[in-house]
Amino acid sequence: MSSFVKFYEEKGVFHLELHRKDKKNALNTEMYTALVEALIHAEQDPTVHIILFKGGNNCFCAGNDIADFLNEDAIAPGSPISNLLHMLVDIKKPMIAAVSGPAIGIGTTLLLHCDLVYATNNTVFSLPFVNLGVCAEAGSSYLLRQQIGHVKASELLMFGDAFDSDTALDCGIINEIVPEEEYWSYAIEKAEALAKKPQQSLLATKSLMKTEQEQLHAVIDAEIAQFSKLLKTEEAKAIFKRFLNK
Ligand code: COA
Repeated sequence: MSSFVKFYEEKGVFHLELHRKDKKNALNTEMYTALVEALIHAEQDPTVHIILFKGGNNCFCAGNDIADFLNEDAIAPGSPISNLLHMLVDIKKPMIAAVSGPAIGIGTTLLLHCDLVYATNNTVFSLPFVNLGVCAEAGSSYLLRQQIGHVKASELLMFGDAFDSDTALDCGIINEIVPEEEYWSYAIEKAEALAKKPQQSLLATKSLMKTEQEQLHAVIDAEIAQFSKLLKTEEAKAIFKRFLNK
């Protein structure tokens, strides 16, 4: 249990909410552990048909907690981060994300594992890994290329510039742009509508579309190996310290 991750089930929807507002919902080790536990619960609970990820209004997630990156073993195999990334690949129930404000690092790469994504027009996506002296994670080196093509994926992953909801929609990273004041209720409405559909059919459909789990696990392991090496470099450590001391 963590006060930074809240969850409850209603009408077949498992609401999984990030709740660390003072740090812009940056994910720390405690939150990764809590997310894994919550997802295990959601997968096992027969009353849950759909998983809905939410951040806060005007902040989905500012990525990994950069202070945790100063721990060189933060993303080692078997770490809470690694456990969550592998778990995202294996979730059988449909996952939806409701996104507003910053969606940085894992705030964007998490979306690549979701089946439906609704974002506001003030959402700011970014994959700043290279600028932080690290590299792509969460299977994004594979998933992004697969979803949006090699050259566009290279642009987003190598330059790491922020991009807006229009770009995310054009690329097919999100389904719809929804007004800020409605996005939350809209995503819930969509999740509840899906939760009413025949569950076995939904599960079968998702599993038929997810045929590359084995490859994705291998990609995540390869990313983790590179990422952990890069975390140990003086260049990356200096970048993290600059952010934390700003
Ligand atoms: N890790 C650790 N702390 C973070 C964080 C992160 N990823 N993102 C934000 N925070 C903290 C800030 O240090 C600040 O803490 P403080 O109040 O103790 O100084 C607090 O959250 C608020 O952030 P701040 O930068 O003041 O808010 P902002 O509205 O000006 O900017 C962001 C919001 C998300 C654009 C900005 O915080 C940011 O760029 N964060 C880092 C994103 C990132 O690179 N993530 C890593 C991806 S791998």
